[in-house]
Order: sequence, then structure tokens, then C-alpha cells
Amino acid sequence: MSARSSHSRVFLASGLVLGLATIAVSIEWRPLNTHTGYAPEQPVAYSHRLHAGELEIDCLYCHFGARTSPRAGIPPTSVCMNCHATVSSDFGSLLAERALAADEDREPRRIVSAEIRKVYAAMGLDDELQPTDSGPHPIPWVQVHDLPDFVAFDHSVHVSRGLACASCHGPVQSMERVWQESDLSMGWCVNCHRERAADPRITLTREHGKLQPGEHVTTDCVACHY
Ligand code: HEC
Ligand code: HEC
Ligand code: HEC
Ligand code: HEC
Ligand code: HEC
Repeated sequence: MSARSSHSRVFLASGLVLGLATIAVSIEWRPLNTHTGYAPEQPVAYSHRLHAGELEIDCLYCHFGARTSPRAGIPPTSVCMNCHATVSSDFGSLLAERALAADEDREPRRIVSAEIRKVYAAMGLDDELQPTDSGPHPIPWVQVHDLPDFVAFDHSVHVSRGLACASCHGPVQSMERVWQESDLSMGWCVNCHRERAADPRITLTREHGKLQPGEHVTTDCVACHY
């Protein structure tokens, strides 16, 4: 925290700021950041298309931080286990084994797919959900989005004002592997804050007051840099 604020003080003291302030108020910022489309491979082949799309699980079921705190958060593996303690593989394989077992007049065997085995391993459990010697460890998810430390972004202020996840993250419910949809440049933030002024029908409220119709969301440097 202190490293962060001293960094910010240096940042705001820099001569750059005055010049940039002039530019920022006079022209539209052009997007500069370049990570659009970044979609790193993940340690478990978790699919948003399947879970948030086909199965229609609510974003906030897993990213429950988004409404009340700065970070949306990645769910702990225990959230996956709410379903995967029983769903040990894809439905197709589970049903095929059940049919085969019926044909062969025996009890169905427990089928655990390679991907779900990784989920169990992260819980420190084997295929039969018995504790292993290696114990639990978090799944090492690879971070997709990453704003620089000198920018303050807070999910709750946006999500609690009714902005949909998709307005910034795109159609995540159709992504097999999640990618970065928006460029996260300063221009992207500021242009949206400005656009909110363009439409006089938009009325927004905030904790310390109410934005009037036509008044735009703040573009003060210190709102995002402090
Ligand atoms: C069943 C749990 C679950 C649900 C439901 C879910 N997510 Fe996720 N989400 C995850 C996990 C696990 C990751 C980390 C792995 C990955 O990136 O795919 C993640 C990653 C993300 C990321 C990238 C985070 C980063 O590293 O920058 C975004 C953005 C995201 N989710 C948005 C959404 C949105 C929007 C929805 C609803 C449409 C949603 N998620 C529904 C579990 C979930
Ligand atoms: C106004 C734009 C905006 C909206 C709306 C938004 N996000 Fe984000 N999200 C971002 C930005 C910007 C980042 C990168 C933050 C950083 O790197 O500090 C991010 C990062 C994330 C991350 C990874 C880092 C973290 O915060 O834990 C997840 C997961 C995520 N968003 C999910 C969601 C979900 C789910 C919703 C809807 C409930 C949502 N976001 C709504 C802009 C947005
Ligand atoms: C609300 C229930 C639910 C939650 C929570 C959930 N899943 Fe799933 N998941 C399912 C179902 C159901 C399937 C199988 C769907 C099918 O085959 O059509 C599945 C399938 C999968 C698969 C593919 C399995 C295979 O062998 O092909 C993976 C991998 C997976 N989930 C990972 C996760 C992870 C990681 C989490 C936690 C971040 C998670 N799931 C949370 C219900 C859930
Ligand atoms: C899609 C539109 C959109 C995008 C993109 C967006 N914002 Fe916002 N932002 C809003 C809205 C709407 C509010 C709520 C204003 C209110 O009600 O006070 C807001 C509020 C804020 C606030 C609080 C302002 C206050 O007056 O308290 C901060 C700080 C902020 N945003 C930072 C960012 C940053 C940093 C980014 C880029 C990483 C960003 N925003 C991207 C729409 C957006
Ligand atoms: C709504 C949020 C928001 C506001 C308001 C804002 N910025 Fe930024 N600023 C950002 C984001 C996000 C980045 C990081 C962009 C990136 O990584 O490319 C950034 C980056 C910067 C940088 C670094 C550029 C670089 O090349 O790394 C400077 C300098 C800067 N802002 C100055 C300002 C000044 C001066 C103001 C006031 C006129 C201001 N910002 C207002 C969000 C904002």
C-alpha cells in the first residue's frame, strides 16, 4: 500500500501531468494499450461458454466480489466442488458408463475425467474424494486482465450502478477460454465516462451525490490516479 502511494505521488508530481491534463480535456484519448484478445492457456480447461452460457450459472455465483468490492475475484476451488463432488466428468461419459453398466448388469463405475481430476487434486483429494498426501493447493489460474498499479479500478462502483459485465468484458458466456475484450487504456475508461454525458436521459447516482441528467461521470485525474 505504501509502495503504491509513494509511486503515485511521484507519478502526480511528474511534469508530464500538466501537459497530459491539457490534452486529456481537449481531445479524445486514443486507445494505446495492446492486450486486447489476450487469452492465456489455463491450468484446467474451465469453459465460461459451458458454465455461464449453456448451464446459465450467474457470473456473481463465482465472482461474488464484483458487487461489493474493488476486485471481482477468482472463486476458490471449493465453489467448483459444490457441483463437481458429484459431476466427476462430462455428462456424455457419465451417461455412457451408466448405459454400459446396465447392459453388463453391474453397478456403474465412478468415472473421473482428466480435467476434473485436477480439480480434486487441488482440493487434496483423490478420485474417490479421499485425502491425499500432497494436500490442498490453489489452482494456479493465469491472470488475464492487469491494469498498472497506478490506476485505481473498483468493480463495486461500476457493477452496483447497473453496468453489465459484458459492457467491459464482452460476451464471456460464449467464450470457451476467456479473452481480454477491452484494451483497458485510459482512453477506454475516459471515453465511457464522457459518453455518459452525451445522453441526457442517463441519470446516475453515486455515494456522495447524484449526477444530474447530462452531467458526465468524473474525468478528474485523481479519481483514477491517487
Ligand atoms: C462456475 C464459476 C464461474 C462462473 C459462473 C463465471 N466465471 Fe468467470 N472465471 C471463473 C474462473 C475459475 C476464472 C479463472 C480461469 C479463467 O480465466 O478462465 C474466471 C475468469 C474470468 C475472467 C478473467 C479474469 C482475469 O484473470 O482477468 C473474467 C473477465 C470473467 N471470469 C468474467 C465472468 C463473467 C462476465 C461471467 C458471467 C457471464 C463469469 N465470469 C462467470 C469462474 C467463473
Ligand atoms: C466498467 C468496466 C467493468 C465492468 C462493468 C466489469 N469489469 Fe471486471 N474488470 C474490469 C477491469 C478494468 C479489470 C482489470 C482490473 C485490474 O487489473 O486491476 C477487470 C478485472 C476482472 C476480473 C479479474 C480481476 C479481479 O477483479 O478479480 C474478473 C474476474 C472480472 N473483472 C469479472 C467481472 C464480472 C463478473 C463483472 C460483472 C459482475 C465485471 N467484471 C464487470 C472492468 C470491468
Ligand atoms: C453449478 C454447478 C457447477 C459449478 C459450480 C462448476 N461446474 Fe464445472 N461443470 C458442471 C457440469 C454440469 C458439467 C458437465 C456438463 C456437460 O458435460 O454437459 C461441468 C463440466 C466441467 C468441466 C469439463 C469436464 C470434462 O471432463 O469434460 C470442467 C473442466 C469443469 N466443469 C471445471 C469446473 C471448475 C474449475 C469449476 C470451478 C471454478 C466448475 N467447473 C464449477 C457444473 C458446474
Ligand atoms: C462502460 C462504461 C465505463 C467504463 C469503460 C469505465 N467506467 Fe468508470 N464509471 C462508469 C460509471 C457509469 C460510473 C458511475 C458514476 C457514478 O454513479 O458516480 C463510473 C465510476 C467510476 C469511478 C468513481 C467515480 C466517482 O465519482 O466516485 C472511478 C474511480 C472509475 N469509474 C474508474 C474507472 C477506470 C479506472 C476505468 C478503466 C479502467 C473505468 N472507470 C471504466 C462507467 C465506466
Ligand atoms: C477514468 C479513469 C482515468 C482518468 C479520469 C484519468 N486516467 Fe490516466 N490512466 C488511466 C488508465 C486506465 C491508464 C493506464 C493505461 C494503460 O495502461 O495503457 C492511465 C494512464 C495514465 C498515464 C500513463 C501513460 C502511459 O503511457 O503509461 C498518465 C501519465 C496519465 N494516465 C495521466 C492522467 C491525467 C493527467 C489525467 C487527468 C487529466 C488522467 N490520467 C485521468 C485511467 C484514467
